Amino acid sequence: MSFNLDQFRLDGKVAVVTGAGGRGNSIGRAYALGLANAGASVVVADLNEAGAQTVAEEIVAGGGKAIGVQVDVANEASTLAMAAAAIKAFGGVDVLVNNAALMVDISYDNFETVSMDAWHKAFAVNLEGALLCSRAVVPSMRGRGGGRIVNQTSGGAFPASGLYGITKLALVGLTTSLAKQFGKDGITCNAIAPGNVKSDAGKLLVPDDSPFIQYLSMTCAMRPRGEPDELVGTLLLLCSEAGAWITGQTIHVDGGWVLRP
Ligand SMILES: NC(=O)c1ccc[n+]([C@@H]2O[C@H](COP(=O)([O-])OP(=O)(O)OC[C@H]3O[C@@H](n4cnc5c(N)ncnc54)[C@H](O)[C@@H]3O)[C@@H](O)[C@H]2O)c1
Repeated sequence: MSFNLDQFRLDGKVAVVTGAGGRGNSIGRAYALGLANAGASVVVADLNEAGAQTVAEEIVAGGGKAIGVQVDVANEASTLAMAAAAIKAFGGVDVLVNNAALMVDISYDNFETVSMDAWHKAFAVNLEGALLCSRAVVPSMRGRGGGRIVNQTSGGAFPASGLYGITKLALVGLTTSLAKQFGKDGITCNAIAPGNVKSDAGKLLVPDDSPFIQYLSMTCAMRPRGEPDELVGTLLLLCSEAGAWITGQTIHVDGGWVLRP
């Protein structure tokens, strides 16, 4: 069959997006709206229950299908309840976007002083959260003949960038391993590594007058900062039939920061 643009559509599919209900202009919100615009029913999942409901209501008000669910991705029972809520509302799960993470609220302390509690919490949310959410939805995906898992890593995983970067680099390892294990079930697993994104959280962490922006301007092939919406096209590729043969990959969406010397 020849290629058709409809292969990017997600009509009839069910997508779960974690970390989609937090700070106002978030990447998770852009992902949830983008998946809904492509036709998917969306489970907007976040620790912040009110925020998840707000984004779900925004999708429904725009004519889409969505529910808001509270989840703590670091808690196995909570991830199983999220999967159960998705199945109850929409019959199953086809797409999981592991986007929830600690980024602003994370310890960037010196390795000599960082508390082991902070260290474990960062890994519990940013790495183990993706494992628990994946395990919670894979049986449903398998039963539906396949699925898509997309892990939100970061361009910050690749230069030395402290505890946050280490958790995100570990997530790349989880991505390739899940891809290998679940490939025969028709489940792909890929990662998106954004550069510096002007989400509300991103602007909090890196204000416009930060010296880091000057560094990015010198090292990026293109403009140094992107908008949450500029990640959505890559997500739709990885979540749709158009990306059915892509697995185990990390796609950098970063204005060419990955090309830095
Ligand atoms: N903004 C950037 O520049 C940038 C760059 C690269 C990667 N990222 C990644 O993109 C993703 C979204 O970033 P953002 O800028 O929208 O930040 P954000 O802080 O708005 O989003 C993170 C979300 O995760 C949720 N969360 C935190 N702990 C949770 C838990 N235990 N269970 C469930 N939800 C939890 C928060 O409530 C929040 O809604 C994150 O994975 C982040 O690491 C962001």
